[in-house]
Amino acid sequence: MSADAVGTSGTGGATPPRRERPTLATRRGPEHARIMGVGAWRPTRVVTNAEVCEHIDSTDEWIRQRTGIESRGWADAETSVIDMSVHAGAEALAAAGVDASSIGAVIVATVSHPYQTPAAATQVADRLGATPAAAWDISAGCAAFCHALAQAADLVRGGTAEHVLVVGVDKLSDFTDLTDRSTAFLFADGAGAVVVGPSDTPAIAPTVWGSDGSMWDVIKTRTSWLEHRGVTDPAAVEWPALQQEGQKVFRWAVFAMAPLALRAIEAAGLTPDDLDAFIPHQANMRIIDKLASQVGLPDHVAIARDIRTTGNTSAASVPLAMHRMLAEGQAASGGYALLVGFGAGLSYAAQVVVLP
Ligand SMILES: CC(C)(COP(=O)(O)OP(=O)(O)OC[C@H]1O[C@@H](n2cnc3c(N)ncnc32)[C@H](O)[C@@H]1OP(=O)(O)O)[C@@H](O)C(=O)NCCC(=O)NCCS
Repeated sequence: MSADAVGTSGTGGATPPRRERPTLATRRGPEHARIMGVGAWRPTRVVTNAEVCEHIDSTDEWIRQRTGIESRGWADAETSVIDMSVHAGAEALAAAGVDASSIGAVIVATVSHPYQTPAAATQVADRLGATPAAAWDISAGCAAFCHALAQAADLVRGGTAEHVLVVGVDKLSDFTDLTDRSTAFLFADGAGAVVVGPSDTPAIAPTVWGSDGSMWDVIKTRTSWLEHRGVTDPAAVEWPALQQEGQKVFRWAVFAMAPLALRAIEAAGLTPDDLDAFIPHQANMRIIDKLASQVGLPDHVAIARDIRTTGNTSAASVPLAMHRMLAEGQAASGGYALLVGFGAGLSYAAQVVVLP
């Protein structure tokens, strides 16, 4: 049957008469999209390595040497993933000069919103006045901000939304076992947000991304929610805290993310020399340094090292690091920044953007 005719087939019934019908309408947005503004929320409570070592057999020196982390921030019990997102989102909207009413979609990248459903994004949209924007969460571990940014750029360029609010947020202190020697010193809390909108020139280069589900279990929650069903003794099932096989994650990140970064630079039509900033997921300072050297970044490229006082904030780490670099003058508006996200899944995504 032709595309412009209505009918039935294979049902055995009589075929209704063919009738002409119009071709479906389509929509196209502006040719280019850009990050228009960035916002951040950081906890006021600073947690030192010494405090972390009250619960695990470790030392300040070991944590600094192996991860580069000197301190991290933990949100208090009353502050939710939604509160954190609203603070970061409001700052991003103000920085972009965009009214919440012209946001057509809100994407929240997170693994620590403590409700299976509904998504955090609908409440974030409501509290910011971005209604009735489409709103949803995505789960791609520490790579999720770069995934959400790719979605946002395509939504704008496709004409589905004029402006998109992208939030990367995680409150990992809720899902960290403070007595687990392989994670307690690493994870932290924070939120970063950007507004993506139309642009006259290319400002979000093509995203390169992928996944490796054969390694799904190297970073995961210890238990599934189903294991908690019907259990009356809380001690009988472990809280679904994050666990990881640190060395496997480390080796994968160092081995696989440098080629990904190089592909993202090539997809942007650039060479490492053309970059102004490198903003990888803040997983471990040693991973950041090894990636920078494998990609062959020249000295003039500013490297995000927000992890030193922020820890690993999963989906929040890239926008938080971007916010700090711009606020502290390590990178300038208009510069080319390479973003690389990688983590649970295993999932990964990278793109070059023009800094807002
Ligand atoms: C977690 C991580 C810091 C551990 O560092 P590592 O060098 O791989 O540590 P290992 O597990 O190989 O252990 C090395 C030694 O340190 C010891 N050690 C492990 N954890 C320790 C801790 N918290 N404090 C002190 N010593 C510790 C081990 O017992 C071992 O001692 P040994 O050599 O005497 O046997 C590192 O693997 C890492 O950062 N991985 C990536 C994690 C990550 O980025 N996750 C998020 C991805 S999004």
